[in-house]
Amino acid sequence: MEQIAVKPLYQPVNQAIELLKKLSPEIPQAAFVLGSGVNVLESLPETKTISYQEVFGKSPGVVGHAGSLSLGRVGGKLVAVLRGRFHLYEGYDWDLVILAARTMIEWGVPKLYLTNAAGGLNTNFNVGDLMLIKGYRDHLSPKFKQTGLIPALAKEATNCQNQLTAHISKTAKALASNDNSFRSIQEGVYVGLLGPNYETMDEIEMLKKLKCDAVGMSTVPELLTASGTKTEAAAISVVTNVWKPDEAMGGHEEVLQAAKEASERLDKLFRACI
Ligand code: HPA
Repeated sequence: MEQIAVKPLYQPVNQAIELLKKLSPEIPQAAFVLGSGVNVLESLPETKTISYQEVFGKSPGVVGHAGSLSLGRVGGKLVAVLRGRFHLYEGYDWDLVILAARTMIEWGVPKLYLTNAAGGLNTNFNVGDLMLIKGYRDHLSPKFKQTGLIPALAKEATNCQNQLTAHISKTAKALASNDNSFRSIQEGVYVGLLGPNYETMDEIEMLKKLKCDAVGMSTVPELLTASGTKTEAAAISVVTNVWKPDEAMGGHEEVLQAAKEASERLDKLFRACI
């Protein structure tokens, strides 16, 4: 494969890292990017918080996206919790959409946990399920795959990213067998569409034929950004609605409610993974 030149560093990445270094000279051992209404790892000991406006020069405009970056400890380990993200459907360019993930990567954070709210396509899924995107290659991005960060190196990253996915999968299985209140997680293929509209029923039928298990509007850019870097990345979808023929879809409020309930289980899972 022909080597493609790496894009020069987007200037705000450097600025963001300078600010973060002042906030904490210690590099976090993991970063968590939280999607719509996903509330986990709250009130951590020794928390320091900075707004996206301050660190990235913009705040996310979507309801359910707080737009704050917190550093705090879980079991003594420093982690970064990024509440909210920027989406292509908001009209932002690729550089801003991947800015938070890229800042973590360039800062040297070794593990990137991504989360999102998604619609379930797999008929075995229920509202409130957690779906681990099986592996780095288990996603489709018909409208996203336009500017991966370091395409020529992507192949090499496949294994390292799968290590984090495997760790989450194993941890979830252990939790499910030891804790009655922990419902086991699903694993599947995620498709990232541009949005912001939800899909038509015909599009849903098409995506099912493509063997997609969940559909959303984010996460793929960050997974692509992490490919070819030393940062391991994995992603979990909170299934906030399940697509069934002839059933009306809930609105954004319903999405936030389902995400809230699943957040409790996700919080347990993430703490166990750390
Ligand atoms: N489609 C796209 N994005 C979503 C959905 C959906 O059904 N649910 C939550 N985010």
